[in-house]
Amino acid sequence: MVKSEVSPEIFENAGRLTQESSLIVRGTVREDKRAPGGYELNLVALEILQIAEGYPITPKEHGTDFLMDNRHLWIRSQRQHAILRVRHEIMKAMGDFLDSNGFTRIDAPILTPSACEGTTNLFEAKYFDGVAYLSQSGQLYMEAAAMAFGKVYCFGPTFRAEKSKTRRHLMEFWMLEPEMAFCDQEENMKVQEEFVSYVVQTVLEKRKAELAILERDTSLLSKVKPPFPRISYDEALDILTANGISIEWGGDFGGGDETVLANKFEIPFFVCNFPAACKAFYMKSDPGRPEVAVCSDMLAPEGYGEIIGGGQRQDDLALLEHKIREHGLPEEAYRWYLDLRKYGSVPHAGFGIGIERTLSWICGLEHVRETIAFPRMLSRMYP
Ligand code: 4AD
Ligand code: MG
Repeated sequence: MVKSEVSPEIFENAGRLTQESSLIVRGTVREDKRAPGGYELNLVALEILQIAEGYPITPKEHGTDFLMDNRHLWIRSQRQHAILRVRHEIMKAMGDFLDSNGFTRIDAPILTPSACEGTTNLFEAKYFDGVAYLSQSGQLYMEAAAMAFGKVYCFGPTFRAEKSKTRRHLMEFWMLEPEMAFCDQEENMKVQEEFVSYVVQTVLEKRKAELAILERDTSLLSKVKPPFPRISYDEALDILTANGISIEWGGDFGGGDETVLANKFEIPFFVCNFPAACKAFYMKSDPGRPEVAVCSDMLAPEGYGEIIGGGQRQDDLALLEHKIREHGLPEEAYRWYLDLRKYGSVPHAGFGIGIERTLSWICGLEHVRETIAFPRMLSRMYP
């Protein structure tokens, strides 16, 4: 603002403004190449709505806990804007891809009577005289929807009471879950690599400015195009062994193991055919090797690790009933799910992609806490 160009009153009022004060300005916008944003505003009027005193976030460095306590204000900063705008773009690109490939969005309930991903990390809620569980995944409902509509997806928050304090874990995260009837695991993986490539290339095209603010090196992201490398679980164990990590066949990978694997690749890759023992009850087992599930995880490169879990579903009624018993799940709660295998069971497959982990990788972040406006973490429910 140039003193000679505005009224003395406006100039005096402007001097009272502090960081995060609110105001309405009126004036004429004119192009000026020297201005940081390429435009200047010729002020005509300035109305102060509120003067902010002692705004806690200042240009000096703040610790993570302080910033998390002030998350409701922190989201006003440029870096958080950039991340959350990329989040928006990712969600939009995901929906656009599926919508233009014949999928119908059929959302799943949040309050559910049964577990999808094992009973150890369920959030229980009082449901009048009974209990309900917050959804860990909409998958089982999407299987019902796929039998009705063919290609479907759900997109919403999911909940896991995981006692994990890592850079990858949230208690509440958003998951998009496509499910396809008449689809095998091979086709499922093809859809996944096309889908993730589309999302990454769309963000690179539309969110250049945001990625620049985040100082994201995009050279590897621009290589994210199908086909993605595929390794088996057995090969992954070999890589880990060669790096001094020994996991007995049948064990799942921890975060550290995924980091080792994910540092070996430049673009996302699949780890296929996990032992059935470390996966959920609904997985189809390999007919030639029943101890192995017909499934895959997609791991993001650059050390990020799992962003997608998916696979072909057990479509045989007897084998599925057997699995439900083996996992000690209450059969009564899954009666409706078993109906899907009684009335026109077909080969089907699908996957779930975690929005926050995907965003963390695309933006090159250190921790998922910045990928959602109000993260729910092991030791944090505020704000
Ligand atoms: O591998 P998960 O547990 O798979 C399922 O829930 C399947 N029912 C999905 C399906 O086939 N429809 O979870 C899928 C993805 C993970 O790959 C990860 O990206 C994300 O959800 N995820 C989490 N993200 C943040 N915090 C957590 N605690 C997460 N747990 C899973
Ligand atoms: Mg998983």
